[in-house]
Amino acid sequence: MTLRIAVVGTGYLGAVHAAGMAELGFDVVGVDVDEAKVDALRAGKAPFFEPDLQPLLERHVASGALRFSTDFASVTGSDVVFICVGTPQRADGLAADMTYVYSSVEAVAPHLSNGALVVGKSTVPVGTATALADRLDSLAPAGSGAELAWNPEFLRESFAVEDTLRPDRLVFGVTSEGAEERLREVYATALEADTPLIVTDLATSELVKVSANAFLATKISFINAIAEICEITGANVTQLADAIGFDERIGRKFLNAGIGFGGGCLPKDIRAFMARAGEIGAGQSLAFLGEVDAINLRRRDHVVNMTRELLGGEVADRRVAVLGAAFKPNSDDVRDSPALAVAGALHLAGAHVTVYDPEAAENAAKIYPTLEYGTSAMDVCRGAEVVLHLTEWKEFRALDPVELGAVVSTKAIIDGRNCLDTDAYRRAGWTFRAMGRP
Ligand code: UDX
Repeated sequence: MTLRIAVVGTGYLGAVHAAGMAELGFDVVGVDVDEAKVDALRAGKAPFFEPDLQPLLERHVASGALRFSTDFASVTGSDVVFICVGTPQRADGLAADMTYVYSSVEAVAPHLSNGALVVGKSTVPVGTATALADRLDSLAPAGSGAELAWNPEFLRESFAVEDTLRPDRLVFGVTSEGAEERLREVYATALEADTPLIVTDLATSELVKVSANAFLATKISFINAIAEICEITGANVTQLADAIGFDERIGRKFLNAGIGFGGGCLPKDIRAFMARAGEIGAGQSLAFLGEVDAINLRRRDHVVNMTRELLGGEVADRRVAVLGAAFKPNSDDVRDSPALAVAGALHLAGAHVTVYDPEAAENAAKIYPTLEYGTSAMDVCRGAEVVLHLTEWKEFRALDPVELGAVVSTKAIIDGRNCLDTDAYRRAGWTFRAMGRP
């Protein structure tokens, strides 16, 4: 019989997971407290930009295999309930806000029956799953046999559908063979394709996720620290990354120096990891992540300083064009976006900042309504005294430096992502600055 799957939380993770589960042939209901989001999803519309998600939603909503609801009772009869709600940084510190995780488990518990498996996917501080298992025991109806497992998610935004359907590894944190068997059923397609599987305890599965993100963040901050050295010595961090990246033990991925990492995961995950380490008496073990965070945030200041320098020392009342607002290309996510942080800082320093992003302008305007938003790269660059390339959308790489040079007032550009054609810009008469390289 087809497994009945519920997915609680329909944000960047949950909506894609729900659509992915429907694509794998399961009967799926997505539950969220946000009515606007649920209305959009019910109509088969992705509530955010994520490549390849829209057709999946359309197909499976139309067939009836994928439904959405704001009513937690709709998880009734589910064999597996995935918890995919957010764990943002708390307003009062570095730790993760666990309100949504607890409230969703509490909301679904009374509706569980027939050995339903509740599977956490949200990124949580180690120890959360065990606490949630106790909570579930006390709230699920007697005899329901409800059980908790953890199955961290490694999907990257902008590749989320691909990562959901063809994950590079699976991790099951379980406390019984039954839970493992159930998860094996859910992921049968990936397992048949020989996807590596680690079956482990709850704590390890929670830690795998935060450790992976901490490692990725460290890798990026490592190369950005080296970029700082390159900037002083005149060396080239891109060539350096190529050279060390050929060492298989190091690898070239995630060694792109630039304005640093942002998004809804890496920044808040390393902070929550540090906070948790402090709580369990191991603050020193992860103290280096504080440095990783500091290096990352320095990159934003660095671009602001470079801009000031290019403008002759004064940014007030100067015209700055910003290309990119999303935290990475092919996404409309602006959570902790380095691009937007730089645009905001320059605006606060008195610059006249105009921003263009192919998909993220609407979300950016919600958190930075005082910035001006344009409708194309050419549009925002008109009359600019300096252009900042801060999110590496493909369309920015395709810009013609000669055509762009004709609309700006001063041909000065900072490539915050080290991926524009330096020579082409310099040939077209631009003052071209990049990150950690000449
Ligand atoms: C990340 C993890 O990669 C993913 O496995 C996890 O599930 C969620 O967090 P995501 O937030 O989608 O995914 O973004 P990612 O592709 O990791 O990029 C994060 C940030 O790092 C972006 O701002 C990106 O621009 C930046 N980055 C990435 C660099 O500055 N340099 C690099 O070399 C790579």
